[in-house]
Amino acid sequence: MGSPTLIDCDPGTDDALALLLAFGSPELDLRAITVVGGNLGLDRTLPNACAVAGLIAAPPAVHPGADRPLLGAFTPEPRVHGADGLGGVRLSAGPAPRAELAADAIRGHLRASPTPMTVIGLGPATNLALALATEPALAARIGTLILMTGAWGEGNATPAAEFNAFNDPEALAILLAAGAPTVLVGLELTAQALATPARLASLRARGTGQALAAACDIQASVPASARLGGVGAALHDPCAVAYAIRPDLFTTRAARVTVDLGPGPSRGRTVIDRWGRGGGAPVTLAETLDADGFFALLGERLARLP
Ligand code: BDR
Ligand code: CA
Repeated sequence: MGSPTLIDCDPGTDDALALLLAFGSPELDLRAITVVGGNLGLDRTLPNACAVAGLIAAPPAVHPGADRPLLGAFTPEPRVHGADGLGGVRLSAGPAPRAELAADAIRGHLRASPTPMTVIGLGPATNLALALATEPALAARIGTLILMTGAWGEGNATPAAEFNAFNDPEALAILLAAGAPTVLVGLELTAQALATPARLASLRARGTGQALAAACDIQASVPASARLGGVGAALHDPCAVAYAIRPDLFTTRAARVTVDLGPGPSRGRTVIDRWGRGGGAPVTLAETLDADGFFALLGERLARLP
């Protein structure tokens, strides 16, 4: 049996691929998917999560969460994810979402799990922060908190800030202060998981299942990133799931991180100290990725799905 796992996400094209990677991986016993707004509003991210869950036979429960950050409003990204959040790829509706809200479901699972859980955050940190702010002792029930967020250099939402951090910096600051052992998978790492047309073609050639086809169709809709040279798009969120499955594909470094909560142009910036100068929450920072190993893992696991 795999490690008991929760995924919080905002599908989102790369979130969809991350969920499918988790579904195909026996190392993870995925207990629930909780959903937050972000890439688009919750009115899109929630049905998208259900539709992706519907690609497998016995999906985990899907719970609705926050449709706004702790302050203000989310800034959606339809240019990357399409107006529907899945690049226009039409899927069946999948299972209905549960009535129980995300923060309640997260707390319930953390309380009930007989062993510490792996918690993977792929969107703005709102749901996870709400869960832990209302029952801080549950941080001790998290074995590893893996967050796709932040950057030690340039951002993608603004020059200073990565998208998930920018969309709820207060929640990210709360989450980082919660005390769970945290792995940060930021933009410098995910830039190494560059889905080029050649890599997508080999992924598609791995099988004929509907999940693999959907993953490839969704990713093919994502425009090449000018920030990354226009040769492909980064598979951000699947990197965080891959860390939970195959940490040996990564090199890491102990670091500390502070989130800029100011109102100016640096809002949402993750100030990451990689050189032990002190200050900020301790994290394990993922620095390098075996990209060929990552794409081999993705292909192998997606090809197992129906
Ligand atoms: C993150 O932002 C979102 O658009 C992606 O889904 C990913 O979680 C990358 O900055
Ligand atoms: Ca995401």
